Amino acid sequence: MKIVLIGFMGSGKSTLAKILAEKLHLQMYEMDDLILSRSGRASIPEIFAVDGEAHFRKLESEMAKELGELESGVISTGGGVITHLGNIESLRRQGGRIVYLRATFETIQKRLTGDTNRPLFQDLPRARQLYGARSSVYEKCSQIIIDTDTLSTSQITKEICERLTAPSAT
Ligand code: S3P
Repeated sequence: MKIVLIGFMGSGKSTLAKILAEKLHLQMYEMDDLILSRSGRASIPEIFAVDGEAHFRKLESEMAKELGELESGVISTGGGVITHLGNIESLRRQGGRIVYLRATFETIQKRLTGDTNRPLFQDLPRARQLYGARSSVYEKCSQIIIDTDTLSTSQITKEICERLTAPSAT
């Protein structure tokens, strides 16, 4: 089974990917960590500041292509993976199921207040604008949407597993 978690920054992709991978005995892949280890930089903000966002997106697309070839695993993507729709096409290869962890901007704002590791969440009005622009793209790209705001991680895990095995799931 190959599960790909998408969603805005702070939607819980990394946390959920770890839990799901453990529960389903699958390998977990954290795209941002893999990109960072290839970049020669010390942090994601450093890639953005020194090389620019376009370079980050190029590394992200290369990684999406590579991970697309995997037959199984749980992949936690960066929030901007949907910036290039080819990334989603890549990640869907080998039966990849795209799960959107949806959260309201208010929930995300609460979680990310004070976070300095996300270059695109340093200016609140811009982050809100980005959220507005991306929301419908996440929806269109995903096969399963989970509204996470009021759910615990174990409830989200349970719902993802149920939806993945439901006969109507695509
Ligand atoms: C980004 C999200 C980040 C990271 C980078 C860009 C985005 O990942 O890939 O800072 O464009 O939304 P998280 O979604 O894990 O924060």
